[in-house]
Amino acid sequence: MLSFLGGTGPEGRGLALRYALAGREVFIGSRDAGRGRDSAVELGEKWPGISVKGGGNGEGARLGEMVFICVPYEAQKALLTGLAESLAGKVVVNVVAPLTFAKGRAAAVTVPEGSAAEESQLLLPKSEVVAAFQNLSARKLLAAGRPMEGDVVVCSDHDGAKKKVMGLVEVIEGLRAVDGGPLANARYVEQLTALLLNVNRIYKAQSSIKLVGLQDW
Ligand SMILES: NC(=O)c1ccc[n+]([C@@H]2O[C@H](COP(=O)([O-])OP(=O)(O)OC[C@H]3O[C@@H](n4cnc5c(N)ncnc54)[C@H](OP(=O)(O)O)[C@@H]3O)[C@@H](O)[C@H]2O)c1
Repeated sequence: MLSFLGGTGPEGRGLALRYALAGREVFIGSRDAGRGRDSAVELGEKWPGISVKGGGNGEGARLGEMVFICVPYEAQKALLTGLAESLAGKVVVNVVAPLTFAKGRAAAVTVPEGSAAEESQLLLPKSEVVAAFQNLSARKLLAAGRPMEGDVVVCSDHDGAKKKVMGLVEVIEGLRAVDGGPLANARYVEQLTALLLNVNRIYKAQSSIKLVGLQDW
């Protein structure tokens, strides 16, 4: 089971939907168990045949073999502080991009620990945190009839966990996983989301990233 904490929001719901459509069991977590269940029912009605459950974030943390953090940066610390034991020994995927908005423009928030991903690893010392998916548009994820496009840079200090998440990225049609190195590199990936949002505003688009020149040279 893949669990999405804060999965009632567009990013978590979009990722959950893509994985459910690929045949995975998914769990939508919320601060309000009823809201999590409603969100799961809604997805199940729209996409009959998918395996989606919902409930509280605590239940999602317990049930998930792999657990995605899909809340706003401001909510991350409060969410994870209570869940460290349930998440011990698990791969935790952090999709958080700490951003602030002023006059419609996005800017990256300075995180004392370096990145939201590094902060989450400090809060979850017994988990294997992997940072990924921060540059993917929720609107595109939710447009599940269309393939995705682009690269997902995956960063972690745990090589086995990083490989698992890189494999999971490529389950979604159109995405390529790129090894982004240690978790300390996640800050650059998170900050890039601000640039993408500002470019989206200019082009009225939903951009993603694609690295070129990765073959031997
Ligand atoms: N949206 C995008 O296109 C996009 C793209 C790339 C990365 N991301 C990242 O993905 C994460 C989720 O994005 P999103 O747009 O889905 O966010 P969101 O809609 O603002 O929030 C997601 C969910 O988090 C929970 N939440 C909100 N405020 C909270 C709080 N103060 N405390 C605890 N839980 C709270 C809510 O669930 P409940 O009320 O049900 O608990 C909400 O449905 C963010 O960190 C964002 O930076 C988003």
